[in-house]
Amino acid sequence: MSNTAKRPVIFSGIQPSGDLTLGHIAGALRNWVALQHDYDCYFCVVDLHAITVRQQPAKLRRWTLDCAAMYLAAGIEPTSATIFVQSHVPAHAELAWVLSTFTGFGEASRMTQFKEKSEQHAQNVNVGLFAYPILMAADILLYQTDLVPVGEDQKQHLELTRDLAQRFNNAYSPTFTVPEPYIPRYGARLMSLQDPRKKMSKSDPNHNATIFLVDDNDAIRRKIQRAVTDSGTTIEYDPERRPGISNLVEMYHLATDEPIEAIVERFRDASYAAFKAAVADALVAYIEPVRTRFLEIRADEGHLASLLVAGAERAARVAERTLRKVYRKVGFWSPKD
Ligand code: TYM
Repeated sequence: MSNTAKRPVIFSGIQPSGDLTLGHIAGALRNWVALQHDYDCYFCVVDLHAITVRQQPAKLRRWTLDCAAMYLAAGIEPTSATIFVQSHVPAHAELAWVLSTFTGFGEASRMTQFKEKSEQHAQNVNVGLFAYPILMAADILLYQTDLVPVGEDQKQHLELTRDLAQRFNNAYSPTFTVPEPYIPRYGARLMSLQDPRKKMSKSDPNHNATIFLVDDNDAIRRKIQRAVTDSGTTIEYDPERRPGISNLVEMYHLATDEPIEAIVERFRDASYAAFKAAVADALVAYIEPVRTRFLEIRADEGHLASLLVAGAERAARVAERTLRKVYRKVGFWSPKD
């Protein structure tokens, strides 16, 4: 594709609310990397979203830089994608306000992630947590996004984003591109190693449940060895009936790209211990180079900072254009009109 042709747009983001996990690679980062050359990409560190749960300021600052560094370590090229921090581009919060006036209270109440998070953080069910998907819609719509590569858990938020875009376009005139989700066939929902009915999460209090991308090789091996499996004896891929072993099969697939069917065929009669050892080897080979690059990138904070400043400037120019259009359409007076 020539450089002058307008490429379709990708937007996606990750919350800097902890160390990133294998789940973030599986559901998001690996697909961002695969798609980055065919799209005009915006990859955001969504710090505004992170404060819907109480954060320690020093940790939030550290995780923000960690998160951006992990984008690069996973293979995002800053020459082809725009990497930036959400709070550096005020248009996100501004558009979210406008979109909140187009969102029904009932429709926001139906978001399953809100219901789950309000149970997990019962002592702090704040209005920001409730409005979170509207901010996410603003993130996406500001860039006239065509495609949003995310894990399964974000599907409902994408549906709300599409509804809001269509609602606004119908109320005024075409303003927003209506985005499509991109949810991978495998790895869209990696499960906890300790309870394969639960999603793998960076905030799981049991650290054995989660593979962090900064885990050293011994920790990766130990966590896989201790992974909870089911009572069967064969290696199969059947996430409904055999969630534990299927999760490990999926991880092996992610780390090696070997087709699921071939993995199952090859390991069908292997013992659980032998298969776990193979999964651990594959994950170590996959994660070790990412961790090494991460540590290198993270060591040069000046470089990371200048990249994020440039990214925010580029993003703000595009975002401003959409925001101005929206402000004009809803009837905000401006001396520039
Ligand atoms: P967050 O920060 O929880 O997760 C970031 C991305 O990683 C995916 N993911 C997983 N995929 C598979 N298995 C897992 N165990 C797993 N854990 C996390 C998530 O699905 C997500 O794609 N609301 C978003 C952040 C966001 C955003 C956006 C995303 C804000 N604005 C605009 C896309 C577009 C979130 O909380 O993701």
